[in-house]
Amino acid sequence: MRPTPPPRTYRVKSFGCQMNVYDGERMGELLAAEGIAPAAEGAEADLVVLNTCHIREKAVDRVYSDIGRLRREDGTVPLIAVAGCVAQAEGEEIMARAPSVAMVVGPQAYHRLPGLIAEATAGRRAVDTDMPAETKFGALPARRKVGPSAFLTVQEGCDKFCTYCVVPYTRGAEVSRPFSDIFGEAEKLVEAGAKELTLIGQNVNAWSGTDAAGRASGLDGLIRALAKLPALARIRYTTSHPADMTEGLIAAHGEVEKLMPFLHLPVQSGSDRVLKAMNRSHTADSYLKLLERVRAVRPDIALSGDFIVGFPGETEAEFEDTLRLIDTVGYAQCFSFKYSPRPGTPAATMPGQIAPEVMDERLQRLQAAVNRDQYAFNRAAVGRRCTVLVERKGKLPGQWLGKSPWLQSVHFEGDAAIGELVEVELTHGAPNSLHAEMVASAGA
Ligand code: SAH
Ligand code: SF4
Ligand code: F3S
Repeated sequence: MRPTPPPRTYRVKSFGCQMNVYDGERMGELLAAEGIAPAAEGAEADLVVLNTCHIREKAVDRVYSDIGRLRREDGTVPLIAVAGCVAQAEGEEIMARAPSVAMVVGPQAYHRLPGLIAEATAGRRAVDTDMPAETKFGALPARRKVGPSAFLTVQEGCDKFCTYCVVPYTRGAEVSRPFSDIFGEAEKLVEAGAKELTLIGQNVNAWSGTDAAGRASGLDGLIRALAKLPALARIRYTTSHPADMTEGLIAAHGEVEKLMPFLHLPVQSGSDRVLKAMNRSHTADSYLKLLERVRAVRPDIALSGDFIVGFPGETEAEFEDTLRLIDTVGYAQCFSFKYSPRPGTPAATMPGQIAPEVMDERLQRLQAAVNRDQYAFNRAAVGRRCTVLVERKGKLPGQWLGKSPWLQSVHFEGDAAIGELVEVELTHGAPNSLHAEMVASAGA
């Protein structure tokens, strides 16, 4: 690789989960603090960061095709950095296979990006997939201007080792950010304009720490403390694991007004045999009982889940157990995936791998069921009054788009502005969104 002039503009492309979105924003802030400006819409950037996801197949192929597409007509390439979970899992291989990649940086090391850029501009390709003991958060610049709804990483990594999943390998062990760090960042985000914070983590409800008074605290304590920030209107958290749904966190759903009535609690399957093979620590029944306890304190809670169809050995009857669980719960929304064998995970070599056509067919049936329930949930909300946090302009003139407390997309017309909390009445429910009429402004 030849020495190149220092980059003046950057672009970060993030794939995968909210954590990657958050990391992408923080990398952008880090680059901006180094005097590298975001490239204008449509313009070529001197530095491109591909912030990758490794959760399912084709992610890796996609990275290589994205790298290929960055080649310009004259044959030159921008400075390319591959970050995220593919970088962590396959860093060395990427370096060997894609000579146009200048840097590889893992999710726990991206605070060192400026050093890697210095190396790369000097003509030396650089890899950093360390999981250093010092946390990246302390080395990142303070938050810039943000939208009305912002992500805040509070916990990272996973110790659960579900047999299909790469996250424990790419993100490392469970680590909770200290309370004071999180609180400080929350204050900055709220000052910068956030009205809603979504606390994120691979197992966010495993968060533990010590509060300002030195008391041991779980995620519920953190939520209760953040709820005291006057300018913060809404709190959400994701993704949670059924095993870490504590009594205190359930109680918070009934008591903390700013905690929105929405719970994303992945179950993956409705078959106890499959759940065991997945190394999930819950059964279908213990999961349903958990949801009942949450509904008891917050009857209107919107529930969301993740599902995998076609896990090795999954029979038709076991798949139907999953459909039955879906019928029982009545989800407000769901994410569903075909099982994808991940290299190095135990499930990848289990017997009984399911044929792609069978997976396709099961996924379609499952999605028909969750779409039906989502539509029903939206229609059942018609007539309710609620607040909408305005996130952007709608497609039509005078139209606004925001989120209800139940995380539904809501369109309405009227005198509003981005970042306002507007009181509306929901008037029409469609499969993926709702229409509403303004009642009055509940204040910014
Ligand atoms: N920590 C979260 C989810 C992280 S990954 C949890 O445990 O619930 C997000 C979702 O991707 C998972 O819930 C699962 O449904 C899906 N997923 C993970 N690995 C997968 C794989 N190998 N194939 C298909 N889907 C997978
Ligand atoms: Fe993956 Fe399971 Fe950890 Fe979720 S709990 S990140 S699915 S290993
Ligand atoms: Fe993907 Fe890594 Fe998130 S694998 S889902 S980007 S934790």
